[in-house]
Amino acid sequence: MEQTLIIFKPSSLERGLVGRVLSRFESKGLAIAGMKMMQLSPEILREHYAHLVDRPFYPSVVASMTACPVIVMCLRGVDAVKVVRAMTGATDGRQAAPGTIRGDFSMSNQENIIHASSSPEDAEVEIKRFFKADELFDYTPVAMRFLYADSELQA
Ligand code: PPS
Repeated sequence: MEQTLIIFKPSSLERGLVGRVLSRFESKGLAIAGMKMMQLSPEILREHYAHLVDRPFYPSVVASMTACPVIVMCLRGVDAVKVVRAMTGATDGRQAAPGTIRGDFSMSNQENIIHASSSPEDAEVEIKRFFKADELFDYTPVAMRFLYADSELQA
């Protein structure tokens, strides 16, 4: 089943929004495969945001992402990457649709609550970046047959 990486950014921890955001993913039916708190370093951010290092706002991104510890999470579900991105909304909270996480909780491009992998390929790389193999758990939620039709699980 597909996995995706979420980072609860300092904007969610400092504003006390982690529980409300996590609750949305749980209610949706995504399974938590891994979760831990960590202080990000400039080195790991350089890898994670390699496509942004030359942008003028990059130093501000580093300052924001290192302002306090973050929570990294691996979520699992059918089409998990696409589903989580749709729930997350547009990058800029001011443009994100109401009902999405950023649309409901953010007014900013940078302080936008969570990071979510943008493709299955990116997710695979990002999960390996933040989790060791033994920090991820493959279990079958008991409610599985009430979350999906059999045909959806076999696809
Ligand atoms: S890009 O250029 O398309 O890759 O950028 P985008 O995917 O929109 O955003 C990537 C991350 O950079 C952050 N971002 C910004 N921070 C500060 N200022 C500005 N102007 C800005 N624009 C983008 C944004 O929060 C994205 O973080 P993630 O973790 O990917 O959501």
